[in-house]
Parts: sequence; C-alpha cells; structure tokens
Amino acid sequence: MIYLDYNATTPIDVNVLEAMLPFLKDFYGNPSALYRSGRIAHSAINTAREQIAALVDAPPSHVVFTSGGTEANHLALASLPRQGRLAISTIEHPSITEPAIRLKNTGNVLDLIDVDNNGVITSLAINEVIKNKPDLVSIMLANNETGAIQDVASFAQILKEHKVIVHTDAIQALGKIPLSFRQLGVHLMSLSSHKIYGPKGCGALIFDKSTPITPVLLGGDQEHGFRAGTENVAAIVGFGKAAELAKNDLSQRTEHLESLKKLLETDLMTIPNLTIFAQQATRLPNTTQLGIPGIDGEMLLMKLDKKGFAVSSGSACASGSENLSPVLGAMKIEESLAKSAIRISLGMHTTKTDIIEFIKQLKILVNPL
Ligand SMILES: Cc1ncc(COP(=O)(O)O)c(C=O)c1O
Repeated sequence: MIYLDYNATTPIDVNVLEAMLPFLKDFYGNPSALYRSGRIAHSAINTAREQIAALVDAPPSHVVFTSGGTEANHLALASLPRQGRLAISTIEHPSITEPAIRLKNTGNVLDLIDVDNNGVITSLAINEVIKNKPDLVSIMLANNETGAIQDVASFAQILKEHKVIVHTDAIQALGKIPLSFRQLGVHLMSLSSHKIYGPKGCGALIFDKSTPITPVLLGGDQEHGFRAGTENVAAIVGFGKAAELAKNDLSQRTEHLESLKKLLETDLMTIPNLTIFAQQATRLPNTTQLGIPGIDGEMLLMKLDKKGFAVSSGSACASGSENLSPVLGAMKIEESLAKSAIRISLGMHTTKTDIIEFIKQLKILVNPL
C-alpha cells in the first residue's frame, strides 16, 4: 500500500513503540501510587510533559494530558463561562463544531467566523466578531482538509486586547511547522499524538495559567485536578517520545514534505481542469486537496484503494458520509467541484517514487471517468 493519508493518522514510529513497551510490560504501577513502579510511571509522565512542552515552546506545567485531540478541544471549550458567547470559524474540525452546537443548544450564544475562498480567516472577519463581545474564540491553526494556515498570532493579539479567551486547535500543525505557544499568544492550544507518529488515544491541552479551566472529567486529582482518571502512561510516554523526535527532525521533515508536495502539485497541474483548493493560502507542507469537475471523489478514492493507494476525501470523520465537506462549503466551492474532492497528505515515509506512482495511476483513473 502507498499511504497518502497522514492527516488522518500516522504510523507509530519504531522508537516511540520501543519507548512505550516497558510501560506496558514492566512499569505498570499506577502513577499515583507511592511505591517504586508507581513513581517510575509518574516520573515518565513528567518527562513526556517536558518533551511536549519543548516541541511547542510552553512551560511543562502548562500541559494537561487528555485522551486525544477531541477531548483537548472539549476541555478548551469548557472554559466558556455560563451563558457565554462563543465564536468559532466555519472550517473547524467536528470536535469543535459539535460541542459548540451543544453549547448553543444549552443557553450560550454561538457566532461563526467566515473564511474567504482560500479557506483563510481575514482580520476583517475577526473585527466583525469582536463587535459581538465574545467570551471565547476558537480558531484552528491549520486546516485538516486544505492545509490552510491561519494567522492565529495576529488574531490572538487583537482578541486579547478585547479580553477574549483564545483557543487554537493546533493538531494538524504539530510536527509539520514550527509551533510556539508563547509566540502565538493564545490561552489554550490542543494537540494530538497520533498525527506525529505517536500512539492513538492521547493528546494534550496547553493552557495559560491565567485561563480558568473547568474540568470535563471529575474524580481523582490527576493532572492537577484538570483531568481526572488514571493516566494512559504508555501512550503519554509514546506521545512524549514522538514530540522529542519531531523537535529534533522538524526542519528535515518539513524540507522533505515541501519538496514532495512541490513535485506532486507541479504534476497535478498538468491534469486538465484540476483545482487545488486553498492554493493561494499558506498551507501545510504536506497537504493537497484537489478536485476535478465531473468526478465523484468517493468513487475515485475507492478506485485508488483498489490500486493500493490510501487517500481521503476530506477529514477522516467526513469520509464515507453523504454530506459534502463543510470546509469546502464554507469556502463557497461549487457543489460539483466539492463533490470531486480528494485529499492527499504526505508524511515522513512518503517517497518520490510514491508520488510518481500516484500521479501515474491518478491520470489513468481520471481519464476514462
Ligand atoms: C484539526 C483536528 N482537530 C481535532 C482532531 C481530533 O483529534 P483526535 O483524533 O486525537 O481525537 C483531528 C483529527 O483528525 C483534527 O484533524
């Protein structure tokens, strides 16, 4: 199989797996326990906290481990005060849009921040939403479908002047572009392990000490009371190791991805009528979402699968659903073009040969269709 769906998930790095194994086999003690194997587990969690903090330039004490990016996003939105006013962009991941809709249905106000045709939020849209005096604004740093990167640092600066709590879902940006919590200037930032060659089911929320976090899960006082529940030690250790590797290799990884994306997109543009979505936006170095009018994206995906290529028709959650991508809808992409969308997302194991093979196959498949 030629795997071209790294935005959906990544294969676990062998070094990550090796780092995790002792915590599944030998050091199984509860990290809250006072005896040796518990203390070893507890200390391993704190090492992981430091590794993740180092990757995103944040203090280790500001990292709360969660069961994944989805939970980190829920925890972030829980900082909305009662009967508060929340604003999110129209291109957020369902793990933001769905809890936001629930908040709206339970007595809060929800505003939407529009994007332009390239899936980019403008400062005009931010200034518009400020007029509504929101309590919390959530804007993703990089979009999972198009790869479009938002100017979160500038927006955070403006929003903070108006005393707004700012959250960013940085899950797709992590490990692909340099990321500094301090420089972004946000209050809350969500991360996920399985997008950076770590295990699934592990994530983190980075928080600013001035932001009141309301725990979603209550119980024990793990994670300083911000997230109750016995920690998934092996997964946290794996996330930490994956973060350490990402920090060490970031520039090589980015360079590798950029050069492959360039090769891919140059060749794609030779296909008649092909559109690369958000082409004018600054995008992640690994993400290309394309459409060809008259082609059914789901059908193309299946045909590619039969030929041994794994690609997506949008976000992993949207794949297989009848609905068109809300992201492309928000960008006002015409329905027939949006219906043809497929997303190719590259990773550190992608090779030049993979790209050449993919293009060759794609050209064969789209011609007779
Ligand atoms: C932008 C974004 N946010 C949130 C998530 C959810 O993360 P997780 O799968 O760790 O729950 C994803 C996963 O696809 C994502 O791409």
